Amino acid sequence: MKKKLHPYSINRPVDRRSFLKGGLLAGGAAMGAGLLANAPFARAQAQTQKSGPLNAGDIAILRFLAAAELIESDLWTQYAELGGIGNLPPIEIDPNEPLNPYQVALSNLDPDGPQYIASNALDEVSHATFLNAYLESRGAEPVNFDEFVTLPGSTAQGSTGASRLTNLMNLNVDTSWYIRYRSATNPDLGATFPQALTLNGVTAIPRTDADYEGKSNPNFPGNDHIQAIANVAAFHFGYIEQGGSSLYATMSQKVTDPEVLEITLGIGGDEIAHFLEWVDFSGNGVQAPVAPFADPISGLKFPNFFNPLNPLVQPSLIFPVPVEFKPNLPRVSIIRPLTDKFAGAVATVKSFTADGLFIGQSPKFLSLLQTMAVEADSAVRSGQ
Ligand SMILES: [Fe+2]
Ligand SMILES: [Fe+2]
Repeated sequence: MKKKLHPYSINRPVDRRSFLKGGLLAGGAAMGAGLLANAPFARAQAQTQKSGPLNAGDIAILRFLAAAELIESDLWTQYAELGGIGNLPPIEIDPNEPLNPYQVALSNLDPDGPQYIASNALDEVSHATFLNAYLESRGAEPVNFDEFVTLPGSTAQGSTGASRLTNLMNLNVDTSWYIRYRSATNPDLGATFPQALTLNGVTAIPRTDADYEGKSNPNFPGNDHIQAIANVAAFHFGYIEQGGSSLYATMSQKVTDPEVLEITLGIGGDEIAHFLEWVDFSGNGVQAPVAPFADPISGLKFPNFFNPLNPLVQPSLIFPVPVEFKPNLPRVSIIRPLTDKFAGAVATVKSFTADGLFIGQSPKFLSLLQTMAVEADSAVRSGQ
């Protein structure tokens, strides 16, 4: 049985008195440091001070990241309710319950896939909850999107039927990341990449129980229709997590406070951990025994990317292929993009909007998110 627990309903005990006390003590420490004649020592003191107020740029960065994590939490919770398995709160599923056809299809990509989905959802909820609690601990306003959790969700078996912040049932999944990470050209230097697959106007989750039905396939358990939906989800997982990986790396370059940098590097590393798994997972949907196959209901086709062999789509090339960084330097294996223009907060909102995540959302939500994104991108690292 799945336990219904919305990620935004988590109560965070907040002791405001302890924050006030911490802030006053920190202020005193900073003032004392300022009186010292030894300027480098004073700077070191200021940089290790961790409980005072944050500058406006760091607050804007953390608030946008909290917003992005609420978005991730919402979409991953939808995936976990329908396709996840395991007993990781807030996802609690009886291991003896038979798998639904979506879970079977995801298991065809990796038998551990449903567990990974539940774990990814758990991680995102922890990111969102932590960032909001951290903002409050540093005297800043947390992000709350409760009023925007209004979109109708899936009614298929497994879904709690709760309202959602994001849409997963009508997406344009950008699959160019799959080729970008197998290419030696760098998006930050202007390189562009074609789509690995055309996935427009598609659902990444079963919308109703009817999506569990389809033509059976001799090559894998289940049917072509739900397998195509699981394959869309696999490429969407990779799309979301490559975005998170680049966003954190880009935002980290603007952070001033050492503890905020510790947090953005730490969470950003977890986004990269997610991304790597979904690179491998999505590649399993475009090779034997699952591919090639076509879903006659949706019309989606998934070729075998090993046949013919093409390094730009080769499923087993799961690590970032070394890429140009500067013309006079050797190629290097890195995540990319790493610049505001392609991976900043505004770019992330633009990409999520094009993906279809916000179809049905109110203009108020979109304008609030855009404002937060502009503020985050405007942050500049200071005090160096
Ligand atoms: Fe996250
Ligand atoms: Fe993530």
